[in-house]
Amino acid sequence: MELQGKHDMLPENTHDEASRQMYVSNLKLHLANHISPKLKSTYQKTINLNKNKNLFPKSRHEVRKVMNKESSYQIWSSLQRTSQEMKQDIQSEIAERQIYVLAKKAKTIKNRSSLGSLKLNKKLEVPRYMSAVDIHCIPGGYHNELIEDDVLPGAVYDPGVFLYSMGRMGAYNEDMGKTIISFIKEKYSKLNPKKILDMGCSVGHSTTPYVDTFPGSDVHAIDISGPFLRYGHSRAKSMSKKIHFSQQNAEKTNFKDRSFDLIVSHILLHETSHPAFKNIMKECNRLLKPGGLMVHAETPEFEGMDFYDQFILDWDTYNNNEPFWGPLKEINLKQTLNECGFDTKFFFKNVQQSAIQNEYAQGRTKLFQGGDFGGAGAWFLFGCKKN
Ligand SMILES: C[S@@+](CC[C@H](N)C(=O)[O-])C[C@H]1O[C@@H](n2cnc3c(N)ncnc32)[C@H](O)[C@@H]1O
Repeated sequence: MELQGKHDMLPENTHDEASRQMYVSNLKLHLANHISPKLKSTYQKTINLNKNKNLFPKSRHEVRKVMNKESSYQIWSSLQRTSQEMKQDIQSEIAERQIYVLAKKAKTIKNRSSLGSLKLNKKLEVPRYMSAVDIHCIPGGYHNELIEDDVLPGAVYDPGVFLYSMGRMGAYNEDMGKTIISFIKEKYSKLNPKKILDMGCSVGHSTTPYVDTFPGSDVHAIDISGPFLRYGHSRAKSMSKKIHFSQQNAEKTNFKDRSFDLIVSHILLHETSHPAFKNIMKECNRLLKPGGLMVHAETPEFEGMDFYDQFILDWDTYNNNEPFWGPLKEINLKQTLNECGFDTKFFFKNVQQSAIQNEYAQGRTKLFQGGDFGGAGAWFLFGCKKN
């Protein structure tokens, strides 16, 4: 596995901590590469036994009912959840012992250079869809602050994403940004955005590629979580990336109407709710300039996938505190975008991850057909060019 890219905010690891991280990572790889594929043949055998009883599942929910009774699935699912909890435990322990050092470091980096900006809003209300569960088992959630000027959730999240994705998101976890950019270069090659907004940026993993690709542009990034933004701003500075971070709810921002040429988000929407989804789309419509482009990257679309693969991809909804992951797939996107004021042609597309496109170009991998557990393979992109 590739090593995570270094920057000044990344927490330091001792030898033993690194070894525990590698253990979790290898456990996840083992589950994904060796155990997960076998579950599908177990499922097929079970279904074939039921052939005469007319019990063929007709949805991912019916597959779940079948598989919940399978001991092999129960064991895999339990190990999958355990690996997630182990990952959060080890990342939290590493970051917590450095909590004061990291908070101080963030401030020092902030003062060291004048790149970009950071505007926090302590009065911003955390929506219920973020506070009701500890999303994917992050203790206390994304917004939890234990000390003044805390960056802890960022310090847990940044290496945590690298471990969760087993390095498949690139050295700086930047794959989604790169994937949207390669889509834009292919389909909207003339787009030269002067002002870009990344909604739900977390620590800015996907934001930095826009700075590199569109060097003349003014790049803004918003998130609800103050600690993420503190960490992200200092991380961006240490990487010499100019980004304007602000603590805002994407449902209702303080930017002026028609301010942006390009609005993007990367796996923001599946962590919200149906009403929030609509509000965010309406806000995108308000903020986009005529002729501006909106692209949202999400977990792979279920349509066209067999019910078993849908069921596996839906695992996080039920087992990893991601309650809107599956329900997002039930939204009629075209109708909802129309209701939110967009009156134009839309695109809806599963695309190959940028990292995999590169490996394929170098002859190092085959192209995945989407759906492999762990997000290997594809991102679902949707959006439009505003009239
Ligand atoms: C999965 S993370 C996004 C990852 C990030 N975009 C990336 O590419 O690395 C979801 C983020 O959305 C933020 N978020 C959720 N609801 C939001 C909202 N209504 N407005 C702004 N940010 C929100 C969360 O705080 C969290 O940082």
